[in-house]
Amino acid sequence: MRHDTGGRLTRDGIRIHDTADFAGMHKAGAVAARILDEVAPHVYPGQTTAGLEAFIRGAVEESGATSATIGYKGYQHASCISVNHVVCHGIPGNKIPKWKNDTHARSDDSLIDGDILNIDVTVIVDGWFGDTSRMYVAGEPKPYAQRLMQVTHDALMIGIEAVKPGNTFGDIGHAIQSYVEGNRMSVVRDFCGHGLGRVFHAPPNVLHYGRAGSGPRLEEGMFFTIEPMVNLGRPETKVLKDEWTAITRDKSLSAQFEHSVGVTADGVEIFTLSPAGTFHPTWES
Ligand code: MF3
Ligand code: CO
Ligand code: CO
Repeated sequence: MRHDTGGRLTRDGIRIHDTADFAGMHKAGAVAARILDEVAPHVYPGQTTAGLEAFIRGAVEESGATSATIGYKGYQHASCISVNHVVCHGIPGNKIPKWKNDTHARSDDSLIDGDILNIDVTVIVDGWFGDTSRMYVAGEPKPYAQRLMQVTHDALMIGIEAVKPGNTFGDIGHAIQSYVEGNRMSVVRDFCGHGLGRVFHAPPNVLHYGRAGSGPRLEEGMFFTIEPMVNLGRPETKVLKDEWTAITRDKSLSAQFEHSVGVTADGVEIFTLSPAGTFHPTWES
């Protein structure tokens, strides 16, 4: 029998989950992470974002999970694929926006050597949401792209290290922002992480910048994502006419990594760890 803490909400409207709920999130997170593992060998120059989406859609179906993004606010795909200066919410199958450093022409949605891309997948398993994203490279990354991906990955993990009862959400944002800006890169302000659980997007907004000690206090049983977007140039973004694709205003390169996590009695559980251990920018397929 489930024993529920009665769906307690904090004064900030953040849900406190119980032990059985951690198991549900662990299962959902593992499915999403495994799909991101499995798509890796399909990323190469000449592959299309539509091709990657088709693979992911099939993998979600095969796993018995449900895609959380198909039908979400009118979105029609099982993944978001954000190439180069696309910050987030890139639509697979759409034309890849032309980037200032593109060395040769691309046809529509096909990848060229040196492209970096974020693939973001959210699945629902037994009612629980698993939301994760990571970076991939088509061919060989440029050194500056490799460095951006490394700093973004490390910023996420440094943010996760700040997750423990008693710390605040501001501590997470502050840790991420200081690390990123210390590396002379910028943190996107226009998109944030979010509470999740039996819903996709719940309170609080998890900012990837901020003051230490600010914001709600972390409590055991809170579930949320941390998903910093980091730009080589300025932090400002704009959304294209398709009403989803967000790009950097200055056309600088952008990267993102995302984990779904839960606050435990003495720290954090990462629900979306890679079963293959490939959640890392230096991993090569
Ligand atoms: N997975 C994204 C997030 O991290 C949300 C994508 S919503 C979609 O919150 F509709 F664009 F897919
Ligand atoms: Co998310
Ligand atoms: Co996501």
